[in-house]
Amino acid sequence: MSRSRLRLGVLASGRGSNLQAILQACSTAKIHAGVEVVISDRAQSQALELARRNQIPAIHLDPKSYSSREDYDEAVVRLLHEHGADLIVLAGYMRLITSRLIAPYRNCIINIHPSLLPSFPGLHAHRQALEWGVRISGCTVHFVDETMDGGSIIIQAAVPVLEDDTEETLETRILEQEHRILPQAIQYLAEERLEVSGRRVKLKSPKPMSGAKVVSPLIEIGL
Ligand code: GRF
Repeated sequence: MSRSRLRLGVLASGRGSNLQAILQACSTAKIHAGVEVVISDRAQSQALELARRNQIPAIHLDPKSYSSREDYDEAVVRLLHEHGADLIVLAGYMRLITSRLIAPYRNCIINIHPSLLPSFPGLHAHRQALEWGVRISGCTVHFVDETMDGGSIIIQAAVPVLEDDTEETLETRILEQEHRILPQAIQYLAEERLEVSGRRVKLKSPKPMSGAKVVSPLIEIGL
């Protein structure tokens, strides 16, 4: 990965608010990265629209045109290579990905998930959290491996679950934190400050943090 400016390939299926947060962080130089390409499995994804508005190549790759998930992922990898992406960000990408995509980008592919993993992996994380009655939930940025939402954790942010929360209100509270920690994780990668040792991810030379909400550079409490 380049120390100067990371070239991002973003995969997204939906509304694209995390992509928006990344673009904003890039444009204000909060992170030393640029989005080189946005790829979506859904033609209607607002993430594609957002990319086009920002003059970023926006590509819809239709899963129906491929005979297997492996073939599809190979096509994704070709596009990522063509655009010189060196960090892949799954920002609301709703497809299960295969080793064809994971292997060439080991430790260079990250995902944002709306729960404190390993709790509530998979779909409907907010609903799962409410149904369990947890008092604290949040979001996780992690490396992607072959397991579902199971790769090494980079950074987490916690939020309270309130008594009258609905899936929507909890989602809104968590999303606000996602928009902070996803760009933060990208910046740590751009600075080559993450040291991965098995499941454990360490931040090299952590800078002193200010603000009562920040417990450590890799844990944030959004109360
Ligand atoms: C986010 O909640 C993210 O954690 C999950 O999918 C959602 C995507 O939202 N993986 P958006 O498309 O970035 O607005």
